[in-house]
Amino acid sequence: MDLKNNLEAAIVAARKAGEFLIENKNQTKKVLVEHGRDIKIELDRECENLIRDELKSTQIEIYGEEFGGVISSDVISWVVDPIDGTANYFRGIDQCCISIALMEGMKSKIGVIYNFNTDEIFHASSGNGAFLNEKEIRVSDISDVSKASLFTGFPASESIESQSLFLKNLAVWKKIRMFGSAALSCAYVASGKGDYYAEKGIYLWDFAAGICLVEEAGGKAEFSLIDDDRYSVKFSNGKL
Ligand code: IPD
Repeated sequence: MDLKNNLEAAIVAARKAGEFLIENKNQTKKVLVEHGRDIKIELDRECENLIRDELKSTQIEIYGEEFGGVISSDVISWVVDPIDGTANYFRGIDQCCISIALMEGMKSKIGVIYNFNTDEIFHASSGNGAFLNEKEIRVSDISDVSKASLFTGFPASESIESQSLFLKNLAVWKKIRMFGSAALSCAYVASGKGDYYAEKGIYLWDFAAGICLVEEAGGKAEFSLIDDDRYSVKFSNGKL
């Protein structure tokens, strides 16, 4: 697998998508679906199409949040979230990004997460380290929960009992942050801005790029399927 050229292709695609989302930042946005806590806007689809066009030359399958595609244990695929943190983008909050991963089965070989609002591009490829813009990043070395920051999201469809347990488990951390972007939460663990990211009920495209980033930055990425396509994830600095 050509990691160098594919990483370059993912960065170019993420930057182009970022330009497009910046251009449209202050425009009225058309909502396509509002279901439970999820929101999908027309720009999600337009942005995924733009990324698909950019990645076409790599001749690799594409699996994206908006248009689906192929993902399986014996296929190499791009995994694309055109806007992670759509609700933030919709309301003008800058915690949102583009997330592009290259997956070989369930192994994340390349991860690119681009916060176009702050022009921060997090990128990693297997065996070559993780970077924020051009600076190498590492996870934190905090090993005491009472000194550590947890990033998470409120569980979407859980029973009252498990919501109570979720709240109880929060109490042990020094700080809790809910950014509304799984991908950025992963990138922040990789760059030592926080120490642990845990969430239940998210999709592969939300965290696929984060796996490579966190692992290459020296951390640990654990995830398991909890239903057809939703995952429970725990990404950490490896010391907690
Ligand atoms: C969402 C974000 C959010 C998480 C949601 C995701 P989207 O992704 O990652 O942090 O809590 O479960 O759906 O829909 O904005 O791509």
